Amino acid sequence: MDKLLIQGGVPLSGDVAISGAKNAALPILCACLLTSEPLQLTNVPHLNDIATMLRLIGQMGVEVTMDGNDGLILDSRGLNNPLAPYEMVKTMRASILVLGALVARCGEARVSLPGGCAIGARPVDQHIKGLQAMGAEVGVEHGYVHAKASRLKGARIVTDMVTVTGTENLMMAAVLADGETVIENAAREPEVVDLANCLTAMGAHIVGAGTDLIVIQGVERLHGATHAIMPDRIETGTYLCAAAATGGSVRLTQTSASYLDAVIDKLREAGCEIACTPNEIALKAPARLKAVSVRTEPYPAFPTDMQAQFMAINSVADGTALIRETIFENRFMHAVELIRLGANIKLDGNNAVVTGVPRLDGATVMATDLRASASLVIAGLIAQGETLIERIYHLDRGYERIEEKLARLGASVRRVR
Ligand code: EPZ
Repeated sequence: MDKLLIQGGVPLSGDVAISGAKNAALPILCACLLTSEPLQLTNVPHLNDIATMLRLIGQMGVEVTMDGNDGLILDSRGLNNPLAPYEMVKTMRASILVLGALVARCGEARVSLPGGCAIGARPVDQHIKGLQAMGAEVGVEHGYVHAKASRLKGARIVTDMVTVTGTENLMMAAVLADGETVIENAAREPEVVDLANCLTAMGAHIVGAGTDLIVIQGVERLHGATHAIMPDRIETGTYLCAAAATGGSVRLTQTSASYLDAVIDKLREAGCEIACTPNEIALKAPARLKAVSVRTEPYPAFPTDMQAQFMAINSVADGTALIRETIFENRFMHAVELIRLGANIKLDGNNAVVTGVPRLDGATVMATDLRASASLVIAGLIAQGETLIERIYHLDRGYERIEEKLARLGASVRRVR
């Protein structure tokens, strides 16, 4: 299994381009199930999770054609198998995103119930509750969610908590429903807006995406469209943290600061100089960061997908930071690995107290989930000596060509067996 070997201590510098967003591309790939006409996508990142989703919709009868370096043409005219098998869903929870679109288009879907994952139990009860409110018969049989509806009906849905893929699934179900659907307490994440923009280009009627109240007028059918996937704000935030923690100076291109206010505010509070233009973010780090406390909450507050990276940068900052994780119940797995590199971290339930130390020392560590692996990469770039990160398949799920991009910024990173 691949590992990543990092020789730390090099301040990152130079330019690097950000890829399309994994968490926008995944639901948008599922949107192709809603029409029998081709959906043409650009800025699609090359990631393991994207490849898994393409295999999943491919086995349902969708024709997938590569179009240039980062493009895809998805044609679901031949959609004939509304089934998401366990073997595929177990490798990627986001497979649940096919559920709403399949019931809306085919009147039926069988989707393996995603199990828990490293960061939490992550149930999908809100996805099911919303579909039932729209008149679907939904049952769980032999580990599969089985949903049926001759045609979904518009409904008023209030989700018990803010759920990103829940909002996306119900939005995709509602665009072909009979009547008006209102989603209250909806997720406001930029990826929800990017999906809504793609669906609108396909002929859907959606108002309020990006707010906590989304109103969808169902239509008889959707048509084909062309859509460019938004830049990945979490990949952007990860590179900003890597530059900040190594005392570097970088410019990120093909991205946008408008989705990252909470993260950029915190990096400025830590002492970074940050300049933003419409598609670029430049960061110049101070000699030593100041410790900054963060509390994860749904967008537009500080994202849980940046929590691990901030634990890494606080591990060498001046002072003590409190990190509070309010979204997932088990998202501190990276802390024990950072401690192996010499960090001073005290865990107490969903709180972590990080007291900055003058330096980290390279060691062998293990990645446990996608963002935990990103925090270990940052720590490895900071640490004196060599750091070997095991199980980097987690990293490949969400970071495109990471060692190539880091090498472009002057880092000494290579993949080893
Ligand atoms: C999305 O996951 C992202 N994944 C996650 O990114 C991200 O961490 C998360 O949103 C929060 O921002 C994708 O977009 C593919 P939620 P999602 O439903 O939609 C509970 C990454 O690193 N909940 O918003 O699965 C749930 O357990 C990944 O790229 C229910 O209880 O997250 C959690 O505690 C990791 N019942 C909270 O709500 C439900 O039916 C928020 O989860 C749904 C959710």
